[in-house]
Amino acid sequence: MGEESIDSGAMLQGQAEIWQYMFNFADSMALKAAVELRIADIIHSHGSPITLSKIASGIASSSPDTTCLARIMRLLVRKKIFTANSQSNGGEPLYGLTPSSKWLLHDTDLSLAPMLLIENHPWAVAPWHCLSSCVKEGGIAFKKANGHEVWEFAALNPEFNQMFNEGMACTSKIALRAIISGYEDGFGCVKSVVDVGGGTGAAMAEIVKAYPHIKGINFDLPHVVKTAPEYHGISHVGGDMFEVIPKADAVFMKVRFESNNPRPPTTRKHATPSTSASFSCVWWEVPSHTYSSGTPPTDFVCPIINDN
Ligand SMILES: C[S@@+](CC[C@H](N)C(=O)[O-])C[C@H]1O[C@@H](n2cnc3c(N)ncnc32)[C@H](O)[C@@H]1O
Repeated sequence: MGEESIDSGAMLQGQAEIWQYMFNFADSMALKAAVELRIADIIHSHGSPITLSKIASGIASSSPDTTCLARIMRLLVRKKIFTANSQSNGGEPLYGLTPSSKWLLHDTDLSLAPMLLIENHPWAVAPWHCLSSCVKEGGIAFKKANGHEVWEFAALNPEFNQMFNEGMACTSKIALRAIISGYEDGFGCVKSVVDVGGGTGAAMAEIVKAYPHIKGINFDLPHVVKTAPEYHGISHVGGDMFEVIPKADAVFMKVRFESNNPRPPTTRKHATPSTSASFSCVWWEVPSHTYSSGTPPTDFVCPIINDN
């Protein structure tokens, strides 16, 4: 097909799509601003929709720029993160929450706010700027952008470590609620479970809350468990999963792995798990150009089901 025969309407549509993709980052950045400004929390604390000036008065600033705020809100209303409704008396529109913005609340049981903050932080966004360089030269985008691989960076940078762990913990809590409710008596037959790469223990805390007979072990790198809160029924153990993991009836994993290799190898030389009974785990494999640091000992990894 010659170029001249390409439909001009399709070309215009194509152009519109490229413009849209070009500015897609604006959505994430507006969301990040909303979380940083605690806009959902401000609306939530009023118990009903409020005006822009009311939102502005709740922001931690002596002179918030309401024009800038209005632009951010306009975008987020268009994206259905917030609602905006005119008042019958002609007063300022009232902004309300939607099922999406409820996930942006800070002080709720289940929230995505910590994850949103770390995933949109310059430390996490910078590696995405290295994609073409990864293609040309190979290498790990996170290291190119931040000078170290992700776990090493977390060990060296307490702020990143905390933000990352909080992000992981909030998503773990959400995932575990769903897993536990759908996997009805999945954990009932084991007395002890070790979460390998369990972060600060949020997943294990959910398991032990639902199955208080379980002795939970949360296993992660030393710099992570050092910051973990105490949970009743859980012991935190620091170490390297490629060397040895604590003994337990079942292993649980919900970890991101390197995915240069879409399927992990079946053995790994240094893996010597001391666990030998049944193994339960969630294999969560996602494209992760930002992470490397090896592939875990997958000879004991299986779908979310017990072996025995
Ligand atoms: C993506 S996070 C997942 C955390 C948690 N499982 C969750 O889903 O919320 C991966 C975790 O693996 C840990 N990790 C990475 N390499 C490890 C290793 N060699 N030994 C133990 N833990 C490791 C990291 O510190 C991090 O907490």
